[in-house]
Amino acid sequence: MSLTDTWTGSEADAARVSAVLDGFEGADPMESLVPALHRIQEHYRYVPEGAARIISDRWHIPMTDIFAVVTFYSDFRTEPAGRNMLWVCEGAACYFMGGPELGRAAREHLEIGYGETTPDGEWTLKRADFCFGACHLAPLVELNHEIHGPLTEDELRSLVDNPPQHQEGSEG
Ligand code: FES
Repeated sequence: MSLTDTWTGSEADAARVSAVLDGFEGADPMESLVPALHRIQEHYRYVPEGAARIISDRWHIPMTDIFAVVTFYSDFRTEPAGRNMLWVCEGAACYFMGGPELGRAAREHLEIGYGETTPDGEWTLKRADFCFGACHLAPLVELNHEIHGPLTEDELRSLVDNPPQHQEGSEG
């Protein structure tokens, strides 16, 4: 079994989600909801609707409540993300140190816009208008939870062409 799978709604998928929920046996379902959703997203790179339905049935939580949680937290996704998640920081410090230029280089190199995933499912590109707390490395990107900076546009392109090995299933 790979660390990440594509959700197909199969019995194996249902069993996997049930196993995640089993891990919260005896705990308060509402308190368990966010960590359970994280575990599911780690595996599928998003929260499939079918997985949410299993949670709803087993824990008696209305789908509308689960949907509200998924949409409230910006780190949850309702669509599959790419295997590589690239955030370009355009927080204040990075913005003034060349973040927008890095972002343009990333969009051109990957041929996608912010918030999009490449057709091969390899890359999702995001613009961060918040600070990663590493302004001394501005301008920077976060690739699969690792900060890289300061970067020139050429260095960014090399990073995309040769991303460091990472554990599949990392997401942001
Ligand atoms: S603004 Fe980019 S790390 Fe602080």
